[in-house]
Amino acid sequence: MTEFIEPRAARQAQPATRALTQAAVVAGRAPSIFNSQPWRWRIADDVAELRADRQRQLPTVDPDGRLLTVSCGAALHHACVALATVGFAAEVARLPDEGDPDLLARMQVVGVREPERAMLRLRWAMARRHTDRRPFAEVDVPPPALHQLCEAAETQGAHLRPLGPDEVERLAVATARAGRTEFADPRYRAELSAWTGRPHGTRNGIEPATAAHHEPRPVPMRNLDPGGVPDTTTHDLVDRHTCYAILSTDTDTPADWLAAGEALSAVLLTATAEGAAASPISDVIEVPATRQTLRDLLSGAGYPMVALRLGVPGDSPLAAAARRAPADVIDIADAQGRPRAGPG
Ligand SMILES: Cc1cc2nc3c(=O)[nH]c(=O)nc-3n(C[C@H](O)[C@H](O)[C@H](O)COP(=O)(O)O)c2cc1C
Repeated sequence: MTEFIEPRAARQAQPATRALTQAAVVAGRAPSIFNSQPWRWRIADDVAELRADRQRQLPTVDPDGRLLTVSCGAALHHACVALATVGFAAEVARLPDEGDPDLLARMQVVGVREPERAMLRLRWAMARRHTDRRPFAEVDVPPPALHQLCEAAETQGAHLRPLGPDEVERLAVATARAGRTEFADPRYRAELSAWTGRPHGTRNGIEPATAAHHEPRPVPMRNLDPGGVPDTTTHDLVDRHTCYAILSTDTDTPADWLAAGEALSAVLLTATAEGAAASPISDVIEVPATRQTLRDLLSGAGYPMVALRLGVPGDSPLAAAARRAPADVIDIADAQGRPRAGPG
């Protein structure tokens, strides 16, 4: 993705509008379920509103919109980091209107501030982070780096819990069961097919180049081939040094889903900054029975939002997933709320 392609309307606008537009463009890099990029930005003067795009929700995989909201939370965190690194201070109101649940956040520029080093580090990572489904290298993620990932989750109001060997086995059994359950549902295979076979040029969905090779791992990877069968065998020939972890929140409301997404973004960007790599695992969350298994694994303390596979990246080439054009995602309005000349 090209950096900072500014819609024409933003180029003519005041600095805060321009900075918010740049932040919304950069937020397009955030990870999302099936690369659905289910968000929209509306920017007017010094305010940017983040909205859920329900047309991009996955009705079978994600009927409640939990993973959609997690994805939007990741975009929100990306935008906050991007704005901070160009020297703007903002106040963010999350779910500010009870009567309008799709309005997920309102971000207002309130001044200028020297960018912090920590933010610059995450901004650097943003351009380099990709979901990495390749086998990881034969070395452990250094414990201090893991500690930083856990701290990154905590700062966003969530928890990251690395799993011990027995817990990894339980995660593997639950993930294999989730795969079997989902693949047995023709609606799931149809949804997977729709998001893995997007028309050329739409710049969303999962492209085959970014999918995993089929080789048994300690925890099965989601098979992204809708005509295939779920991966249910486990083996530690590859990924022997992989760390598996669960990202959770204390309660299970839309506000928690949004916070989980912000935490997911913070964890993934911190991992990249630390030289580690990750791939989210959410099929085990999508099936209620296996999500309950993960809750039990956390001893009932909290609600699992996504599992993560963490490791040190290998050196084979890593493909980047495409992103929608900023003009399709960002609307810029003038002070009276009328659309400006139109993005692009
Ligand atoms: C909430 C959420 C759930 C995800 N679940 C999975 C998953 O189960 N399996 C997987 O391989 N990738 C998963 N991903 C990764 C997305 O497929 C990935 O972010 C998207 O394709 C964009 O690619 P990128 O992360 O490389 O930018 C998930 C991402 C998010 C945000």
